[in-house]
Amino acid sequence: EHIRIGRKYPDIKLNTTYSYGIDDQEFVVAFEGDNPHDFVDLVQELRLTEASMYTLQDTPMHICLAKPLPEMLDTLGGQPIAHLVEEDVTELGGWLQVARVEDLPLGETRLVYYGREQIGLFNIEGTIYALNNRCPHARGPLHEGEVSCPAGADPQVRCPWHEAYFSLESGQVLGGPSPRGVETFQVKTEDGYIHIARRETIEETMPAR
Ligand code: FES
Repeated sequence: EHIRIGRKYPDIKLNTTYSYGIDDQEFVVAFEGDNPHDFVDLVQELRLTEASMYTLQDTPMHICLAKPLPEMLDTLGGQPIAHLVEEDVTELGGWLQVARVEDLPLGETRLVYYGREQIGLFNIEGTIYALNNRCPHARGPLHEGEVSCPAGADPQVRCPWHEAYFSLESGQVLGGPSPRGVETFQVKTEDGYIHIARRETIEETMPAR
């Protein structure tokens, strides 16, 4: 009965583990999804099933991805809320130190802030790319996307939410539902730190990639 109802909500993954814990009649039902509304509707429907009358005790456990508060606020409300982490970069000639080089190993990504904006850093074969981390389609976090390096083309990242593709070099949208590309930033490393700057605010005296 539960499986039949679960099939009506294809975006919610349902993993059931039997014989969990102390006794045979206990089991864990793990739900996984991105849309809380679907999840609430599914649980509501499951509670009305005949089989639910034979459940002695439910112990809900909620888990999610841990995020620092500024990032969580940014995820929920976008730029007007993210000013909480704003830094004045104009006094720094546009450059902002955002991470240690050793914290971005080959093939890794990292989320940083440039003023109020989320920036995704990508270390692709020793070249560091920086681009606005919010996918223009629905604000998906690009630093969590899959990176590929097609032969003869720019390395690209796939938005993890609805599969828009962006060039890491130019920020141009290469495919998928995004209506436009994303801003890319200049990157330089100095004294073991990664610095980024908007392209139009670079000072001539400071060498950059
Ligand atoms: S949020 Fe990136 S493709 Fe939809």
